[in-house]
Amino acid sequence: MSDTVILSIESSCDETAAAVTLNGRTVLSSVIYSQIDLHTIYGGVVPEIASRAHIEKINPVIRKALEDAGKTLDDLDAVAVTYGPGLVGALLVGVAAAKSIAYAKNIPLVGVHHIKGHVCANFIEYPELEPPFLCLVASGGHTHLVKVVNHTDYEVIGRTRDDAAGEAYDKIARAIGLGYPGGPKVEKCAHNGDPKAFSFPRAKIDEAPYDFSFSGVKSAVLNTINSYKMKGMEIDEKFQADIAASFQQSVIDSMKERVLMALDEFGMNKFAMAGGVASNQTLRAALKEAVEARGGEFYCPKPVLCTDNAAMIGAAGYYEFINGKRDGLDLNAVPGLKL
Ligand code: KG4
Ligand code: ZN
Repeated sequence: MSDTVILSIESSCDETAAAVTLNGRTVLSSVIYSQIDLHTIYGGVVPEIASRAHIEKINPVIRKALEDAGKTLDDLDAVAVTYGPGLVGALLVGVAAAKSIAYAKNIPLVGVHHIKGHVCANFIEYPELEPPFLCLVASGGHTHLVKVVNHTDYEVIGRTRDDAAGEAYDKIARAIGLGYPGGPKVEKCAHNGDPKAFSFPRAKIDEAPYDFSFSGVKSAVLNTINSYKMKGMEIDEKFQADIAASFQQSVIDSMKERVLMALDEFGMNKFAMAGGVASNQTLRAALKEAVEARGGEFYCPKPVLCTDNAAMIGAAGYYEFINGKRDGLDLNAVPGLKL
């Protein structure tokens, strides 16, 4: 089969991104414009601001991705775009841009599920990795444990019942005064803390052992902070660090337990991580150790491929494309798109 060059676009949340990939796994260019600075003062992503910033940046980001790859629109075999899940106004910007290019150049349009994109970041990082494998996708909006049956078929075996892992990190960061974006700040703060200082819950759901719940640990952290404040005790750096480390330990423990249980139950040997939370070095190290201790193989993309980017959408888009997926120009953004 001849080479397949795909332009991919990602705009589901607060990154405007475009990439050019070759045969799904080789990244010729990847451009990411992060809107973090625009949202920081509000303590989180403001959807309307995100949509407007995407509109301003989408064309320059696409142009730069093509330039960096040494390609023009005429070199493309297809255009892939995230069409859900995500913020509707944000998604629409990428979808409209992709449709325009597909129409103007008369090339196939491939809508991509954002979570499948996160999983496929592993195919870029590890050219030799092949399904089946187990993957934990933990981001700001999602926490899913999935069986990757083949490049395009995924079976969800567990998901969060309430907050996503990244969302919990962001809320804890706010509660202890670290600000947005919370994940990297909590991780850094936790380095100086004692993970056993506080015992926060590790939620279990009897009828759905692979499902996650992070709202209980969030409430426990908030209660601990409130009771400190009521006793007139100071929220100092040591307290912040102990809260961060103990919170993080409860997240790590609940992930580790489910991952090991799933590898056993489904007789799988390969485990991959994905999503923004997977850029957490402490979490990666803990899961790597646990999986390798039982003789399993551990995979996790480098941090820039864990957080939102368009190269991962190119990888997922490539496998959908060679599997025959084609979308029409009526492709719409689907904010609640299910896996
Ligand atoms: O995958 P992503 O970039 O966007 C979504 O699809 O949601 O994930 C962003 C999330 C945020 O909640 C952020 O706090 C979290 O990933 N995150 C982290 C770390 N870096 C980013 N969480 C924990 N530790 C980190 N180092
Ligand atoms: Zn994401």
